[in-house]
Amino acid sequence: MSTFQTSPGMRDVLPPDSARWRRFVGAFAEVVEPAGYGQVIPPLLEDLGVFQRIGDATDVVTKEMYDFVDKGGRHVALRPEQTASVCRAFAQHHPPTPWKVWYAGANFRYEKPQRGRYRQFDQVGIEVLGVDDPYLDAEVIALAWQFFRALGLGQVRLLVNSLGEPADRSRYVEALRSHFTACVGDLSPEARATLERNPLRVLDSKRDQDAPAVAAAPRIEHFWCDEAAAHFGAVCDGLGALGVPFDIAPLLVRGLDYYRRTTFEFVGGTLDSAQNALGGGGRYDGLVESLGGPPTPGIGFAIGVDRTLLACDDEGVFPVAAVSPHVFVIDTTGGREALLLTNEVRAAGWRADRAFEGRSMKSQMKAADRSGAAVALIVGGDELAAGVVTVRALRGTDHAQLQIARDDLLDHLHKVLTS
Ligand code: HAM
Repeated sequence: MSTFQTSPGMRDVLPPDSARWRRFVGAFAEVVEPAGYGQVIPPLLEDLGVFQRIGDATDVVTKEMYDFVDKGGRHVALRPEQTASVCRAFAQHHPPTPWKVWYAGANFRYEKPQRGRYRQFDQVGIEVLGVDDPYLDAEVIALAWQFFRALGLGQVRLLVNSLGEPADRSRYVEALRSHFTACVGDLSPEARATLERNPLRVLDSKRDQDAPAVAAAPRIEHFWCDEAAAHFGAVCDGLGALGVPFDIAPLLVRGLDYYRRTTFEFVGGTLDSAQNALGGGGRYDGLVESLGGPPTPGIGFAIGVDRTLLACDDEGVFPVAAVSPHVFVIDTTGGREALLLTNEVRAAGWRADRAFEGRSMKSQMKAADRSGAAVALIVGGDELAAGVVTVRALRGTDHAQLQIARDDLLDHLHKVLTS
C-alpha cells in the first residue's frame, strides 16, 4: 500500500471516468443555457456565517461542516452546498433580476461515507432570484426532469410538496411537536433526539419503529393558508401542462431549513433508499435577506453528480465514450521525428500519440495497436533518409501500408481519416 491514500469519503476521479464527469456537466449546460441560465463560479470557501444561514437545526450546519479558523483569524468553511453562496453573491453584487444562474462543482459534508454518500461530492444546479411566480417553479422542476431524460435515466420519480408560508410552517412544526411528544415512548431513540432539534425531520425517519407515529402525523396541507394552497395548485398545474409526471409527497420536508412553499426531490429507482435522492430543491424566499440583501424570492435545485452517475451505471445509460487517437507515431530513429510529427498532426486537428524512450519497433507497434488509433505513421532510418513516412492502417484486416512524401502527409491523412 502506498504511504498516502485519499481521506475517507474522498475519491480520485481517474480517466476515462473523468471524461464522463465533464460530459455530465456539458449535458447539464446544454439543458439550462438555452433556458437563459449563465454560469456562476462561487469560491469553495466562505465565511462560516454564510452557511449558518442554511439553518441552525440542520445536520449540514450543526454536524457536517468542514470549518476552521484561517491564518487571518477568520472563521471559514468549505461549502456544503452552493445555494447559500449564490445568495451571498446576489446580495454582494446586486445583479438585475431575474438572476438566473447555474453551477457545477465540489461540496463538502462530514458524513458517514457509504456508496452514494461521500464527504466530497459534486453537484450541478440552478438558482433563480427575484421572481415569485409558481409557473417559474414548474419551469425549474421541468428543467431538472429534462436533464435526467437527456442522460437516458428512465427510473427517476419526482416528488413534490409545499411547506406553506413561514407562518404555516411554524404552526405545522408546533403541531408535529405535540403529536410526536404525545407518542414519544413509541419513537426510536434517534427520532426522539431529532424531535428535540427539529420535529419536521422526524418525518424523514426510515425506521420501522417510527413508521406508525409518522403515518399518524398531521399533514402539512391542513396548515396551508389560501395563498400557499393556490401557489402549490399552480405549480402542479404547470407541471401537468408540461407533461412532467410527479407524485405529491406530503411528508417530503427536505434536510435544509431555508425552504418555504415548494419543495421537491428526484428519487432514483435503483439506489439504496438512504441514498436514493438524486437531486432536490425548492423555494427559499428569505435566504437573501438573511444574508444582508433585499427581500428576494428564490428557487432552485441541485443534482448530485456522484449519485446520478451511479444511477446511470445501474440503468446502463450515459456510457463513457472511449476516445482513441486518430494517429500513432512510431519512430525508430531516436524519437525526435515522433516529437515533430505528432506536433504537426495535432496542429492539423487530429488526435495523435506516440511511444517514448526509444523502444523497439515491436514494442512501439504493440503500443500503437493498444491505443486504438486508426493509422500508424512509421519513421525508420530509410524513411528519414528518403523524406517519406510509412502510413499503415491499423483497423480492419489488411493493414494496408503506403509510403507518402512528408510534404503530402497531411493531405493524405485527411483523405484516409475522413473516408
Ligand atoms: P441537498 O438535498 O442537500 O440539496 O443536495 C442535493 C443533492 O446532492 C442530493 O440529492 C444528492 O444527490 C447530492 N448529495 C448531497 N449530499 C451528498 C453526499 N454526502 N454525497 C453524495 N451526494 C450528495 C442542496 O444541496 C440544495 N442546495 C439544493 C437546492 C438548490 N435547493 C434550492 N436550490
